[in-house]
Amino acid sequence: MSARDRVREANPAFYERYSMLEDTDEFWEFLIKPLRQSVRVNTLKAPLEVVVERLSEEFKLEPIPWVREGFFIDVDNLARVPEHGLGLIFGQEASSMIPPVVLGPRPGELVLDMAAAPGSKTGQIAQYMENEGCIIANDPKLSRANVLIANLNRMGVLIARVTTRDGAYFGRFENLFDRILLDAPCSSVGMIRKRWKFLEGWRLKGVIRYMNVQKRLILAAYKALKPGGTLVYSTCTIDPLENEEVVDYILRKTDARLEPIDLPVKTSEPVLEWEGREYPEELRKALRIHPNDNDTEAFFVAKITKPEGEG
Ligand SMILES: C[S@@+](CC[C@H](N)C(=O)[O-])C[C@H]1O[C@@H](n2cnc3c(N)ncnc32)[C@H](O)[C@@H]1O
Repeated sequence: MSARDRVREANPAFYERYSMLEDTDEFWEFLIKPLRQSVRVNTLKAPLEVVVERLSEEFKLEPIPWVREGFFIDVDNLARVPEHGLGLIFGQEASSMIPPVVLGPRPGELVLDMAAAPGSKTGQIAQYMENEGCIIANDPKLSRANVLIANLNRMGVLIARVTTRDGAYFGRFENLFDRILLDAPCSSVGMIRKRWKFLEGWRLKGVIRYMNVQKRLILAAYKALKPGGTLVYSTCTIDPLENEEVVDYILRKTDARLEPIDLPVKTSEPVLEWEGREYPEELRKALRIHPNDNDTEAFFVAKITKPEGEG
């Protein structure tokens, strides 16, 4: 049975909706094909070259073009690799390494990771901050916050304070944070390559519920951002309602600006028209990544700034 037929059989409504986005055989094949394993080298614990040299003795590593510390690796069970247990490497999907790169945090800054668990991006942010400054790593789901704490400990992150608030809570800290990552809760279509249940369980009403949460969170995040600061909005899903619609919302509601992203990553056309809605050309600056673009999870990444002087 073809990938297209498998998707159609598992969830006809899903197939019908996303065949309007892209309808190539390649798209459907990569949407369900198992993911390649990838890791991020944790430079908080050891120099990049040392870890790469050590791993290369045992495994085939292929650099990920858009992240200096990222590699595809031919390993079946990462848990059995000692460097993983020691926190020298962290299993992280290749496209999920993009948002912290785009965020570009620096040592000494105050950063909010609004939806942080299980913490792969918090660790990457801490690595770019060289463990100097402060990261508020927030996640309201207690079981996930516990995993977040364990992961931050394993990665040797010393500058994170974990909180368990609804992300919208941070809206009251107006103009406070130098940088904010909102890696939003989403319908996780990108994760079908890891878990089939995300395909079978997909419902349009779930997409709409997530969109409403995402709009609430992005507005709070923008309020909490310092003038001159950077907010990165990302999801691992392909629905325009959770991506272009949410970014268009913050552009319309505030004086937020969308910035271009210059990375060696292949992208798909942004959606500028969807179900009667129209989005501005400016949305071309965001990255819409489909699974077949780079053989990764699907991702959407937008870089937003707040003009200096904004109250
Ligand atoms: C895509 S995951 C985050 C992945 C994480 N950034 C990483 O890279 O490891 C989205 C997270 O949002 C959290 N979440 C759900 N509702 C939220 C809310 N109202 N405010 C903040 N976070 C929320 C979920 O518990 C989930 O852990």
